[in-house]
Amino acid sequence: MDIDDVNAVAVLGAGSMGHGIAEVVALAGFEVRLRDVETEFVEDGYEQIEWSLGKLVEQGQIEEADADAALDRISTHVALAEAVQDVDVVIEAVPEQMAIKKDVYADLEAAAPDRTVFATNTSSLSVTELAGVTDRPERFCGMHFFNPPVRMDLVEVISGAETSEATLDLISALAERLGKTPVRVHKDSPGFIVNRVLAPLMNEAAWMVEAGDATIEEVDSTTKYGLGLPMGSFELADQVGIDVGYHVLEYMHEELGDAYRPCPLLESKVEDGKLGRKTGAGFYDYESGEGAQVP
Ligand code: 3HC
Repeated sequence: MDIDDVNAVAVLGAGSMGHGIAEVVALAGFEVRLRDVETEFVEDGYEQIEWSLGKLVEQGQIEEADADAALDRISTHVALAEAVQDVDVVIEAVPEQMAIKKDVYADLEAAAPDRTVFATNTSSLSVTELAGVTDRPERFCGMHFFNPPVRMDLVEVISGAETSEATLDLISALAERLGKTPVRVHKDSPGFIVNRVLAPLMNEAAWMVEAGDATIEEVDSTTKYGLGLPMGSFELADQVGIDVGYHVLEYMHEELGDAYRPCPLLESKVEDGKLGRKTGAGFYDYESGEGAQVP
């Protein structure tokens, strides 16, 4: 399949990544079927797209007519078969846990047309293992966006062991149509490239605070003003979702060893449901605006 043959794209999962990916795909002119397992989740995702498009209009990045046209291209679904029946590409952005993703791919294989290419937005999990659940490992690859998708330029395009060159070409071309810069990752190793570098940084920052060697504010100030990253390490954890970072580290710990053991500070935030911006609080409080919370 050539990029010009792609008309409709399904995005599975309407959470912080899924809704942003659906928004970017719709802005690029494709028909989008946004699907989540409950009506409430998919409606929340759609509302976040409306909010984000409104912001882009406010910031003068797009015209109101573009925002309206993008929204018109997005339909919302709960039934998987209905969402994928006529799509050329599926981008899967369900929670970052192997068992959940495998269940989705087993159902998806039965529901999607044979020609459809599957792209997983996994942050760390083995693309080869996920592809193994399907009958189309050659039409399966990683397509890893960054948070927030509407602002971040990079897309990692990851080859599984059996991914065909044609699939990698198609998904790279799709990323370009979305205005992104695709970078091919030839080896399917845990965390790929960005998260292999970034997750230990965020974990080490948490270990320092856990040990009392630095405060959240000290770490974030030095990350921003010393390392030149756009956000401090804890601000970024809140942006990405502390649960996402934690699951990435858990998997890297299992696969790569002790150096990646997640700091208990991350685990306790996940247990308390303080996952970052999306829940109103994480390392920082976004509702009262009172600054860093005591871990
Ligand atoms: N859509 C539209 N507008 C948005 C938005 C979205 N999704 N998210 C934030 N905004 C708005 C804000 O509400 C704010 O609006 P306001 O001024 O009216 O309050 C405005 O954008 C802020 O924009 P600015 O350009 O002024 O802000 P910045 O220059 O600080 O840019 C940023 C924001 C692009 C998020 C920047 O801080 C950044 O690049 N941060 C780092 C993000 C990053 O590294 N992401 C990758 C993480 S790793 C990952 O995702 C991998 C995963 O697998 C774990």
